Amino acid sequence: MDQAGTLRSIVKKRGGPGSSENKSMDIKGELPGNEGNSPVQVIAVTSGKGGVGKTNVVANLGYALTRLNKRVLVLDADVGLANMDVILGLSPKYNLQHVLNGEKTISDVIISGPGGMKILPASSGVQELSDLSKAQKLCLLSELNSLYDETDVLLIDTSAGISSNVMYFNMAAQEILIVVSPEPTSITDAYAMMKVLFLKHSENHFRLLVNSARNAEEAREVFNNLSLVGQKFLNLSIDYWGYIMQDDHVAKAVRQQKALVERYPNSPASRCFSDLAKIVCENRPNTSSRGNISFFWEQIIENSDALPLEVSKI
Ligand SMILES: Nc1ncnc2c1ncn2[C@@H]1O[C@H](COP(=O)(O)OP(=O)(O)OP(=O)(O)O)[C@@H](O)[C@H]1O
Ligand SMILES: [Mg+2]
Repeated sequence: MDQAGTLRSIVKKRGGPGSSENKSMDIKGELPGNEGNSPVQVIAVTSGKGGVGKTNVVANLGYALTRLNKRVLVLDADVGLANMDVILGLSPKYNLQHVLNGEKTISDVIISGPGGMKILPASSGVQELSDLSKAQKLCLLSELNSLYDETDVLLIDTSAGISSNVMYFNMAAQEILIVVSPEPTSITDAYAMMKVLFLKHSENHFRLLVNSARNAEEAREVFNNLSLVGQKFLNLSIDYWGYIMQDDHVAKAVRQQKALVERYPNSPASRCFSDLAKIVCENRPNTSSRGNISFFWEQIIENSDALPLEVSKI
């Protein structure tokens, strides 16, 4: 059976045909290696399909990591409707745009969230990176590098889908965490996303988190299926980073504009986030292969020249 047939059969088993966006684009080349600095873990949290829970994952994984004494910086890079601040009840006055305009410094823009995690609102500003002169880019880089000593983990909340923006954040990060729900369309779109990252950018290593799972078995099945198809047709290596239970406390915490793990620490989903935070701490990336936080920013700024990028069929 071909890959489309195999995916269809998986999806069919799960209750209906799925859809995937057959879009891709072309961005950058190589990432420089680590130059011996103490590594910052840079994780892009992404998904093929929208609304699968990325922003909740970033907010709650971030909070759970602070409980393990990690210094967390969240980059809210969703250029659509950024709502990290909304779900955490924060009101950022400024964003990356103000830094680019020269009106504010990075430290003026960063806000403190629950558990002391820092949030850099960047949804406005990211698109403008491509318009900067070389001197402005260097100035911004040195500002951003000042975050280096204060951060253990950088989490990036991306938009959904295969747009150029999402791709370049993913390719600049050390680790790509794909969030998928057990719904058929989410599964096919997660596969489409990995396929684009592999075919266009040679990315062959992913982490997978199953969100809104009814139980561990359902989540494991989603992982097994995606891992099987990914390995068979694209030779992908996909690590299982576990699952987050479907839990009504998530929506309650969102309505209360509080981090779930802070507000309902003993809820089923909160316990899953604590497990996920431990997995993140145990899975330190190989720092020789991908850069650290300063390289992340360099990649982002350098590759912003590539925006907007042409979307083509894969
Ligand atoms: N584990 C869960 N259990 C129950 N509800 C959940 C869970 N995870 C997320 N949700 C609900 O799903 C909705 C979408 O979540 P979220 O905004 O985090 O998705 P997203 O992937 O960031 O969306 P977008 O692609 O639009 O940025 C939220 O209203 C949230 O309450
Ligand atoms: Mg979101």
